[in-house]
Amino acid sequence: ITKTLTLNTGAKIPQVGFGTYQSNPQSNEGYNAVLAALKAGYRHIDAAAAYRNENEVGKAIRDSGIPREEIFVTTKLWQTQHRDPSKALDESLERLGLEYVDLYLIHWPSPQIARDNSEDALFEFLQKPNLDTEWNINKTWELVQELPATGKAKAVGVSNFSIKQLKQIIESPSTKIIPAANQIEIHPLFPNTELIEFSKSHSIIIEAYSPLGSQIPLKGVNPLFSNTTLQSLAESKNVSIAQLLVNWGVKRGYVVLPKSSKPERIEQNLKDIDLTDDDFERISNLLIEIGENRMIDVGWNDFSNY
Ligand code: A2P
Repeated sequence: ITKTLTLNTGAKIPQVGFGTYQSNPQSNEGYNAVLAALKAGYRHIDAAAAYRNENEVGKAIRDSGIPREEIFVTTKLWQTQHRDPSKALDESLERLGLEYVDLYLIHWPSPQIARDNSEDALFEFLQKPNLDTEWNINKTWELVQELPATGKAKAVGVSNFSIKQLKQIIESPSTKIIPAANQIEIHPLFPNTELIEFSKSHSIIIEAYSPLGSQIPLKGVNPLFSNTTLQSLAESKNVSIAQLLVNWGVKRGYVVLPKSSKPERIEQNLKDIDLTDDDFERISNLLIEIGENRMIDVGWNDFSNY
């Protein structure tokens, strides 16, 4: 899948990107996976400061021998760094060993205060009690929107923002540029249709993380991979369930960010398959069929709405 979408900056973004979240920073997993992805033909790598593997990701990009301008690189501002995005971006670029990223996202709409000054505390996934109540997303965006002028981030955007939070940014008098992208969790059990429509109407590109459903907390089992409808559809088309899910997202018109640590799966997930309208409908109907609603299940919306 080599299709691209166009950001509101005019830049092209490859529609399938490689996610790096679960890569283990203690091993070479991230490095090997990103190299395998670039070898397989991915030209879009999705990183984040909080994944703690920017060093490896950047090294793989540099070692790949592929010209920098041919790879679309994203990284993200962590929750504890909302008060100084410029410094946080400098630190990310230093770790990546790159001069710029193509996209810099506010990772979560929730400014937080770190427990202490250690790096572990800085990148901890924090919950409500640590909210930086003296700060807010409008103040963060005010600073983030200045970054493209430095050339260090070609475009800027957000992640895990609800419609309400996007509106808050768009309608703020201090907003001079509209976020280029909003990266959120999307898969057939969490289709996020309304948020996708809203973003499209404001020319904000949607990016889907966990498109294979790896965040669905159902007794540790991913119900998408054991779903009989998907299994028989995959079998009849001689493709994998992962390929159905990636291509379903591509057909819905947003960026899809699958991740894997295994070279053959990395390669497989980038393959274009022929998804008919009927196949597409069957996958779209899974939510009704399974009756599982990830949004209600985990209170994702609650988290992003405070
Ligand atoms: P692995 O790294 O062992 O391949 P998501 O993109 O939704 O976060 O899903 C990532 C998860 O899906 C990982 O656990 C990954 O495991 C698994 N995965 C990725 N690609 C495939 C595939 N083609 N077939 C089966 N599982 C896959």
